[in-house]
Amino acid sequence: MITLSIDGRSVTVPPGTTLWQAARQVGTDIPVLCHSPRLEPVGVCRLCVVDVGGRTLAASCVRACEEGMQVQTRSDRVEQQRRTLLALDPACAVRVVPGVSSVQAAAAACGMELAESGENLAVLSGVDDPARLRAALAACDGAVILKAYRSLPALRALLEDMGLGSGAVLVSRCGLDGEDVWRGTDAWPEKPSYFSIILVKK
Ligand code: FES
Repeated sequence: MITLSIDGRSVTVPPGTTLWQAARQVGTDIPVLCHSPRLEPVGVCRLCVVDVGGRTLAASCVRACEEGMQVQTRSDRVEQQRRTLLALDPACAVRVVPGVSSVQAAAAACGMELAESGENLAVLSGVDDPARLRAALAACDGAVILKAYRSLPALRALLEDMGLGSGAVLVSRCGLDGEDVWRGTDAWPEKPSYFSIILVKK
């Protein structure tokens, strides 16, 4: 038997089990396009990729489990690849699953790449001192501002003053009923939901 970790959960499977099959054992459904459990895997579409810590992502429907593997079924790299593939096929529905992390879910909801290559991403508190927020925003390539609800007017003014208003996206109730995305501070509502997050990309 082989023991590995999938999204931090330990699972033991017989040799020859694919990562996709093992993920199902721990209750994780990895999306597939070219794969059916009733057919021999062909591994051509790569929608089912997962992160096994290597240089490239692994197609989970064909990659066999290995002892001690640390597998991430949702990460920025994985989500980015899936989004790219789904964008090529508009017939595929994109579903955002809540609970992974509000930052990743919000980025997925608005199709934004938070950071690429050597870019820096700052995760900031919307109720921080305005001068500290300004300095942090000036120093990063992109930012996530949490606790946006209480200070929204001040945050809007700060972002606009720094010339970042058009690239600032407000995401409310991400993954919940009533999810909304407003791109650019001009479009932001006066009173968004308490569950709101701001993404900024320069
Ligand atoms: S589902 Fe197509 S490569 Fe795995």
